[in-house]
Amino acid sequence: MSNDSKDILARIDSDKERYLEELKELLRIPSISTDPAYRDKVLEAANWLETRLSAAGLTTETIETEGYPLVYAEWTKAEGKPTVLIYGHYDVQPVDPVDLWRHPPFEPTVEDGKLVCRGATDDKGQSFAHVAAVSAILEERGELPVNVKMILEGEEESGGEAIEAFVSADGGERLGCDCVLVSDGSMYAPGQPSLLYGLKGLAYMEIKVTGPNRDLHSGSFGGAVANPANALCHIIDRLRDSDSGKILIDGFYDDVVPLADWEREAFAKLPFDQGAYNEDLGVKQEFGEEGYTTLERVWARPTCDVNGIFGGYEGKGAKTVLPAWAGAKVSMRLVPDQDPAKIAELFTAYVEKVTPPGVTVDVQLIHGADPVVVDATGPYADAALAAMEDIWGREAVRVREGGSIPIVSTFATVLEAPVLLVGFGLPDDRLHSPNEKFDLENFYNGIRTSARLLDRFAEIR
Ligand code: BES
Ligand code: MN
Ligand code: MN
Repeated sequence: MSNDSKDILARIDSDKERYLEELKELLRIPSISTDPAYRDKVLEAANWLETRLSAAGLTTETIETEGYPLVYAEWTKAEGKPTVLIYGHYDVQPVDPVDLWRHPPFEPTVEDGKLVCRGATDDKGQSFAHVAAVSAILEERGELPVNVKMILEGEEESGGEAIEAFVSADGGERLGCDCVLVSDGSMYAPGQPSLLYGLKGLAYMEIKVTGPNRDLHSGSFGGAVANPANALCHIIDRLRDSDSGKILIDGFYDDVVPLADWEREAFAKLPFDQGAYNEDLGVKQEFGEEGYTTLERVWARPTCDVNGIFGGYEGKGAKTVLPAWAGAKVSMRLVPDQDPAKIAELFTAYVEKVTPPGVTVDVQLIHGADPVVVDATGPYADAALAAMEDIWGREAVRVREGGSIPIVSTFATVLEAPVLLVGFGLPDDRLHSPNEKFDLENFYNGIRTSARLLDRFAEIR
């Protein structure tokens, strides 16, 4: 191959420290999108990225939306060459429980080759790897090998409505491209480059059960009035069969595409140590839908889990009270071809059906995301696999994931371009948990992979 990207890889090596310092700067901005108290900080993160992209030589724009802005940047002077759209998100999850962090959650700290901070991998570190790569190429060569468009959103962690509306309305006019590159997942294992081809969808529900018009004395009224907390437990217990792990909501599995034999075989070939998995999580044994392996359960079977449950007396000691209401948040992770809106309806109807007499139930869909399986074949996927192998020195594997990135299915359908999910994080990066981290090796290899990918894409056609 004529172009081996040596020039760029050398530049990335010599500028490593600078990229790390820049990423730390971005990480110090607490851009928590779900909490309105951090509004200014979310905007500051958007601003920081736009300034950085502009300094790198891209034409930038802050696209205002009903929610947080989209940071858009492009460099489109590579005439006759492919166009790549790079996606990422600059918002992060909340940090609670904050006392479990070893350092302040927004003070990036390097420990044993790992950068610990909220957003380190999800998704500031992974997004910034692409920014650094593009910047390195422009500095070194004065031009990019392909046309690059970049879109960074600020509310992925809280629903992603703004980008959804923008991409749908755009219809590919401005965002038109030959492939979409997303780094917001992870690699299968350390040192094992991975191309993700499936993400789960989501139907996130909230149930509220109400009973008497006030909290009641549990002696004077208990046993004579339906208790909303008891009723809620009954409803939750009816959602799944605890022996088979099957979800009992009527019609829930109707649209589920069954796992194909080839896929089960491919999953089974991946190295997987159930004992180490259990030990890492501190659980005694695995758990889940009968007849499926852990990887199948997480990647390709729909789930239903309580995320939070509340109501009644939660203070110290005992208070003898029959609560007036109780509530729960429940997430259902979906697989093709389940539709979040339809699943939300089935869920609501089922919950109403199993609600015991004497209480009232209210069910709301908080947000949803479509499940997606992308076609990870063709010249762009091949180029991505080759670029990963060039950098990591090991053949990449094709895998799925249990997480959701709401915009991915919209990209695939609206832009009619292959979506390549190239993750740089690791399964133990503690996304959404205290002490989130990003291995520096993965950060630097992420920058290298991004640069190598663009050179590989330039050879297509
Ligand atoms: N980056 C994650 C999604 C992810 C995690 C993909 C792990 C692959 C592996 C993303 O930021 C995320 O957390 N998404 C939310 C979506 C929700 C808020 C709509 C999720 O999956 O809970
Ligand atoms: Mn993410
Ligand atoms: Mn996330």
